[in-house]
Amino acid sequence: MVVFKVQLKQKIFQILKEQAKKSGIDPEAIREEDLSIENPPKPELGDLAIPLFPFAKVFRMPPHALSSLVGESLQQGASLPEGVDRFNIVGPYLNIFLNRPMVTELLFQQAVKEGDRFGSSDLFRSKRIMVEFSSPNTNKPLHLGHLRNDALGESVARILRFSGATVRTVDLINDRGIHICKSMLAYKELGQGRTPEDEGLKSDHFVGKYYVLYNELAKRDPEAEDRARAMLVKWEQGDPEVRLLWEKMNQWAIEGIKRTYERTGIHFDQFNFESEVYLKGKEEVLKGLEKGIFYREADGSIWVNLEDIGLDRKVLLRSDGTSLYVTQDIGTAISRYKDWPFDTMIYVVASEQNYHFKVLFTILERLGYEWAKNLYHLSYGMVNLPEGKMKSREGTVVDADDLLDELTEMAKEEIRTKEREEEVGNIDETAEKIALGALHYYLLQPSPSKDIVFNPKESLSFTGNTGPYIQYTGARICSMLRKLNGVTQVKDRNGKATYLNTTEEWELVKLLSDFPVVVELSASSYNPSLLANYLYEVSKTFSRYYHEHPILYAEDPDVAASRVQLSRCVLQVLKNGMYLLNIPFLEVM
Ligand code: ARG
Repeated sequence: MVVFKVQLKQKIFQILKEQAKKSGIDPEAIREEDLSIENPPKPELGDLAIPLFPFAKVFRMPPHALSSLVGESLQQGASLPEGVDRFNIVGPYLNIFLNRPMVTELLFQQAVKEGDRFGSSDLFRSKRIMVEFSSPNTNKPLHLGHLRNDALGESVARILRFSGATVRTVDLINDRGIHICKSMLAYKELGQGRTPEDEGLKSDHFVGKYYVLYNELAKRDPEAEDRARAMLVKWEQGDPEVRLLWEKMNQWAIEGIKRTYERTGIHFDQFNFESEVYLKGKEEVLKGLEKGIFYREADGSIWVNLEDIGLDRKVLLRSDGTSLYVTQDIGTAISRYKDWPFDTMIYVVASEQNYHFKVLFTILERLGYEWAKNLYHLSYGMVNLPEGKMKSREGTVVDADDLLDELTEMAKEEIRTKEREEEVGNIDETAEKIALGALHYYLLQPSPSKDIVFNPKESLSFTGNTGPYIQYTGARICSMLRKLNGVTQVKDRNGKATYLNTTEEWELVKLLSDFPVVVELSASSYNPSLLANYLYEVSKTFSRYYHEHPILYAEDPDVAASRVQLSRCVLQVLKNGMYLLNIPFLEVM
C-alpha cells in the first residue's frame, strides 16, 4: 500500500502543478509539504483521503471545485493510477478507494518475502546514531525509573537499526562522586569485610544495602558526611586503599546491574565510565575561559552566562578546581565524538534533567562544536506506583529485580489459574517472558514525555491494552497454524487475495500494510509508543475478525487458505513489532 500511496501522491502533485501552469499560476506555489494523505473518518468514505483545501487559496477557487478539477484530471488519463479503483469527491476532499486484491496481494508478497525484515527501511541509511541510555550510578541497583529508561533506549535503538541506521548504544556508568563514597564509607565502617555471597545477596543489592545503611548512619552521626567527603578527596588523590575499596564495590555493583540487563534483554555496545572521562571536561572549560566564552569569579570559580537565552549563570569549575556534573558531560560528549563521529547522539534521560541538557548543548555549541546541534535529549516522565512517588532515601524505591520477580510470580499464578501449566511446558520461562512483555509494553505504550503510574496487576492482564494481550494474539495464531497440518484440504493450498471479501479482512489488510509507515514514524520521532499502540490496534482488529469469521474451518478451502495467509501476515507484523519493543514472543501461553 505504501507504494501505491507514494505513487498516488506524486500523481496528484503533478496534476496540481500542471493545473497551475494552465491557469497561469506559478507552479512553485504548489508545495509538496502541503499535500497529505489521511485516513477518512469512516471506512465507507474511502480508503484514503486527500485534503485539497491547502491549495484552494493558490488557485483562488472554492476547495470543492478544486477537488472536482483534480478528480477529473485523475480520470482523464487512459487509466487511474495503479492501485486506485475509484474516487469520490466530498467537499474539499478527494477520497480514494483502493484496489483491494492488488493491495492485499502486495501485502502477502511483502510479508512473506521480507519475513523478519518486513517493516524495515533505509530511512537512516549511512547515518551513525549514538544512543546513550540507562546510565546508572554504582551505589545501588537499578530501579523502576531505570526500567523505563532501558525500555525506551533499547527500543529506540532497535527501531533505528531496523530503519537502516548504524547504531551504537552506550551506557555511561556514573562510578565516582560523593554518593559512591557514601556506600563505600558505610561498608568500610559497618561491613566487616563481608561479601555478597556471605549475605546471599545479588552483588548490586549488597552495595545498595550499604547506601541505605549510610543514610541511617548519617542520621545518627552528623560527621558521617564529612568522612564521606574526605574519602572523595582521597579517591581523587588516588589513595591506594580507597581505590581498592572503590574497585571492589564498583565491580559488585556493575556485575549485578549487568545481570539485570541480561535478564531484560538490554544490550550495550559500549560502556563509558565517568571516572575515566570526568577530567576531560576540565580542560575544555579552561580552553573556553581562554577564548572568553566563560568567565572567572573573584573566588576563582569558572562560570558560563546563559542569561541571554533565558537560562541562568552556571558554575563549571568550583573554586577548588573540582568539576560538576555538566563539566563531565562536556568532556564525555567531546571524547565520544572523537572516538566515533556520529550524525546524531540521543541521550535518554529523565525529564528532571531537561534544564541540564539545554545548558550542556548550548555550551558545546558555544565552544564551537558543529555537531552539538545534532545532540538530542530524549526526555521521559516519572514512573510512580499507585501508592505514590518513589523515594530512594526512604527505601520506598521500587527495585527493578524485585519488581521483575513479583511480576513473574503473578504471571505464574495466572498460568496456574487458567490451568495452562501443561501446555506452556516450561512455566518459569514462560512466566518470565510474560512479565517482561507486560512491563515493557506498559512502559512504552504512553508517550515518553508522560508520567506513568505503574500498576503491576493491570499490566499483566491478558485482555485490554497490555503486552500479554499482544503476546496472546500471537500465540493464538501460532496455535492455529499448528492445527493447519491436520486440515489437509487447506494445508496445501496457496492463499489468494481475491478470496478475501469481508470488511474485516480489508480493514486488517489496510492496517497491516501500514506497518512500515508506523515503524518509520516511530523511528523519525524516536517514539516507540506509536508502534506499541499500533500493535494493540492490530491485535484488537485480528481478535474481532477471529471471532466473527472461521479461518481454518471456513467452508471453502480456498477462502480458508487465504485467511490463513492473512493470519500469517498478522503474525509477522506482531513478531517484528514485538521485537522492536523488546516484548518476548511466545508460541504458547
Ligand atoms: N547517572 C545520572 C543520574 O543517575 C544520569 C546520567 C545521564 N547521562 C548523562 N550523560 N548525563 O542522574
